[in-house]
Amino acid sequence: MFQTLHETVEYIKRKNDNFQPEIGIILGTGLGGLVNEIDVEFSMMYSNIPNFPISTLEFHSGKLIFGTLKGKRVVAMQGRLHYYEGYSMQQITFPVRVMKALGIQYLFVSNAAGSLNSDFKKGDLMVISDHINLQPESPLRGINDADLGPRFPDMSQPYHKGLIGKAIQIAAHEGISCHQGVYVSVTGPNLETKAEYRYLRIIGGDAVGMSTVPEVIVANHMSIPVFAISVLTDEGFPEVLFPVSLEEILATARMAEPKMTKILSQLIAQL
Ligand code: HPA
Repeated sequence: MFQTLHETVEYIKRKNDNFQPEIGIILGTGLGGLVNEIDVEFSMMYSNIPNFPISTLEFHSGKLIFGTLKGKRVVAMQGRLHYYEGYSMQQITFPVRVMKALGIQYLFVSNAAGSLNSDFKKGDLMVISDHINLQPESPLRGINDADLGPRFPDMSQPYHKGLIGKAIQIAAHEGISCHQGVYVSVTGPNLETKAEYRYLRIIGGDAVGMSTVPEVIVANHMSIPVFAISVLTDEGFPEVLFPVSLEEILATARMAEPKMTKILSQLIAQL
């Protein structure tokens, strides 16, 4: 892992004039709008970066974007990797390792998720305060590289408390409805049955999605403070469950996105 990481990081540094990002950003499905706020200095196709996994179509269009956002140097992943696409957990989280080696001190993550909490409506935002990992394995399975982090990393506070507080304040100030809650990660790509949505609510979830947790585990492994936020794109309420399509999920994500972009950019400005 160390050698692979070294090769990728050296390649990126050489290509981007040693640009040192302070903040890493991973943008979720239909939530790429924050990229428009970045003064882009440099971008790289994933497919041109050594050791970045390639196979699916979506990935070929993925880009690593370097630039400034509210005066902060950032690196943003436009297009994320999902376990359901067939990547291993190590592949999904490799970009987080790379961003850390490039110098990031914070990681910001967004995603689209289904609401499990009947008080949290479609189109609302939810700051992730904790998670339950129901994906089949941890990205830390296998030999541990002690240079990257400990064998048994603590997960008592995986999402940075101070950033959560600030985000809630920003939302209130902007009049944006923004909840806090527990995100459950599943493999997908199918959505859940009524019985599964009921189960996920019973075990303590407020929202369910197919991403984020692997990246957050790896960020915690390397002691990077994390902030993560979900756009609730559909309602997984078993008593009144309607069929939902990807188009509807994307349309809701697009509609709610400006609210999320406002919170993220102000939060980054305040760092
Ligand atoms: N379930 C799982 N993942 C999701 C959902 C959902 O209802 N909505 C958006 N991503």
